Amino acid sequence: MRITILPGDGIGPEVTAEALRVIRSISDVGKIDLEYTFEEIGGSAIRNSGVPLPSETLDSCLRSDAVLLGSVGDPEFDSLPPSERPEAGLLSLRKALGGYANLRPAKAFNALIDSSPLRKEILAGTDLLIVRELLGGLYFGYPRQITSDEAINTMRYNGKEIERCARIAFESAKKRRKKVTSVDKANVLEVSQLWRASVSRLAREEFPEIELEHMYVDACAMHLVTNPSRFDVILTENLFGDILSDESAVLTGSLGTLASATIGGKVGLFEPVHGSAPDIAGKNIANPIGAIESAAMMFRYAFSNSAAADAIEQAINEVLNEGLRTVDIAAGASAISTTEMGQAIAERCGVIYSNKRPVAAKA
Ligand code: IPM
Ligand code: MN
Repeated sequence: MRITILPGDGIGPEVTAEALRVIRSISDVGKIDLEYTFEEIGGSAIRNSGVPLPSETLDSCLRSDAVLLGSVGDPEFDSLPPSERPEAGLLSLRKALGGYANLRPAKAFNALIDSSPLRKEILAGTDLLIVRELLGGLYFGYPRQITSDEAINTMRYNGKEIERCARIAFESAKKRRKKVTSVDKANVLEVSQLWRASVSRLAREEFPEIELEHMYVDACAMHLVTNPSRFDVILTENLFGDILSDESAVLTGSLGTLASATIGGKVGLFEPVHGSAPDIAGKNIANPIGAIESAAMMFRYAFSNSAAADAIEQAINEVLNEGLRTVDIAAGASAISTTEMGQAIAERCGVIYSNKRPVAAKA
């Protein structure tokens, strides 16, 4: 199995190093043959090769079974046009890998309930999954241009693009609480009207057992902070999903703990939801849990190894329950470093995996 690792910018290298530590602990115990290649993306790639997605990076990703990414974004390049910035590297990579459904789970950890900006009783029971369409909408639509005093971006979707992403949301809901909330702005946008019609038809024809509701994006933003436990799967387009996923991530205590998996394409892409956090980069204080959880999603979705994914998730839970905290979730109490958190989780999941993994995987 080949993994391309793209540490990227800011805290990316620090958190991916810890994710890799955890992956190695699983592969050592399970004698899983994994091969790693490190490549550059984002600001670090611009600095060394002039472009945010060098062709060696893309080639390596396309030859892999999974891609694990840290984060991209660097204030040094803030004055560049969008197409030349670090973020453009990530967007081109997403497009080239072809994954159109970005899964962003947000579940309240009991141990972190006091780090949430919400009151306990509002947060209790929150366990939702955002399925964000990742290859369409304003991020990729044409025409797009800027002149000195006018700029254009285009939100465009066709029925097929909506349907293939919606199908992943319904399939995910089947394994969960069987409810999909499709989020749009159909009171204003034509794109949303097509979105609504396509999702409704798919539900009727292929997923009659799933409860479907439609919700406007502004209302969804409000319900996420007033009643987050009402949601199971939230299905939405690219930009709405970008915004709502940061909102839902922070509800659970820290943006630093949330992970994502992008599926449906040639190669799966696994990345934490957080950004490059340049203000804390290089200090060994970033929370590696989002990156580590992304590694768990990689085992689950790219390698169909749910025993490994479960072991990693259980290890995260256990160390949090025991009180280990990075500074973002310490609520003023004493905190450990990025490396210490990674080591604690790696050690723990090795033990869990060696006790739990199915006999067949031992060969
Ligand atoms: C995310 C990020 C990216 C996005 C940026 C870095 C391009 O915010 O993964 O949510 O907007 O998709
Ligand atoms: Mn985002």
